[in-house]
Amino acid sequence: MNALNQALYSEKTRNNQVILEAKNLTIDFKHSGQKLFQPTKYLRALNGLDFQLREGRCLAVVGESGCGKSTSAKIATKIYKASEGGIYYRGMNIDEITTGEHIDAYRREVQMVFQDPFSSLNPLHTIRYHLTRAMKLYHDISKEEMEYRLIKILTKVGLTPAKEVLDKFPHQLSGGQRQRVFLAKTLVIGAKVILADEPTSMLDVSIRIGVLNLMNEMKHEMNKAFMYITHDIATARYFAEDIVVLYCGHMVEWGCTESITQNPQHPYTQLLLAAVPDPSRSIHEKLPTHRSLETPMWSPEKKGCPYAARCPKAKKECEEYLPEPLEVSENHYTRCHLFA
Ligand SMILES: Nc1ncnc2c1ncn2[C@@H]1O[C@H](COP(=O)(O)OP(=O)(O)OP(=O)(O)O)[C@@H](O)[C@H]1O
Ligand SMILES: [Mg+2]
Repeated sequence: MNALNQALYSEKTRNNQVILEAKNLTIDFKHSGQKLFQPTKYLRALNGLDFQLREGRCLAVVGESGCGKSTSAKIATKIYKASEGGIYYRGMNIDEITTGEHIDAYRREVQMVFQDPFSSLNPLHTIRYHLTRAMKLYHDISKEEMEYRLIKILTKVGLTPAKEVLDKFPHQLSGGQRQRVFLAKTLVIGAKVILADEPTSMLDVSIRIGVLNLMNEMKHEMNKAFMYITHDIATARYFAEDIVVLYCGHMVEWGCTESITQNPQHPYTQLLLAAVPDPSRSIHEKLPTHRSLETPMWSPEKKGCPYAARCPKAKKECEEYLPEPLEVSENHYTRCHLFA
């Protein structure tokens, strides 16, 4: 899809139905290896995260390792429980989904796709086994109907000839094909929301594009809502209409992908974009400098902007408190003292 079509599509789907929403999502983990009788120390992995996933649209969650990307998806799939705030599915707080039957129904609607497609598939079983098992869990249909649906879905995700692929074992498929099996599984189950955690980071570039295209089709043609977790802002630009840039569990810049990637405001977003390989840039061109390379461990007691220690433009107040979010332009926000 070219940039103009992408912009038109983004505009068209802007008011699509919100299906999953995070409000003030915060989570503290206990520090491991603490000594007995010492006060418990906590790591704040997410601090007040807000986002919305809409039908037929994608939100990219971008940031470096350890910034809390996977944790946000794990809370949305009820693997972790938020310490404060929460996730709302079609307006309902998911903490209120407690019975086994309702949790199953919720997990059918909200599915996660993982980084390593090989470790997510059992090497002892065929693709048919994996997919029929998923289908049986959620749909009571005949064997013939199941076979018909599997072939249709595998063909849709580009795994052809589907009949042959069904009888293969995971090791007989490439990384990209295995990731397609995983996306097929979300279709088999009938998921409405797909939380894709670095789904292409283990694939080489040529295969990556195929998987991104498939996810794009699922978004456009089947109205799926996507969360695309990545450290690579370049692919986010290609696939997502909205972006949240996370640093140390804090939202530093968020809103419309086009505006953020064309006109980044926060020094951290600027750094992420400057690190994207650009063939038109000279190899002698200097990248923006950091004051420090270390990412701080955040804790509930800490105040200020977590990026202050690295930010080349940091001021005194950056260490002291977080400013309120500022709307830079329509649907483009940042939280930075430079603009407060
Ligand atoms: N179960 C847990 N117990 C304690 N700390 C945890 C737990 N899960 C995650 N963390 C910590 O929370 C922080 C965020 O982790 P998370 O896995 O969400 O990062 P990420 O952004 O997905 O990183 P990556 O890009 O490397 O996958 C990290 O500091 C991690 O060590
Ligand atoms: Mg992760």
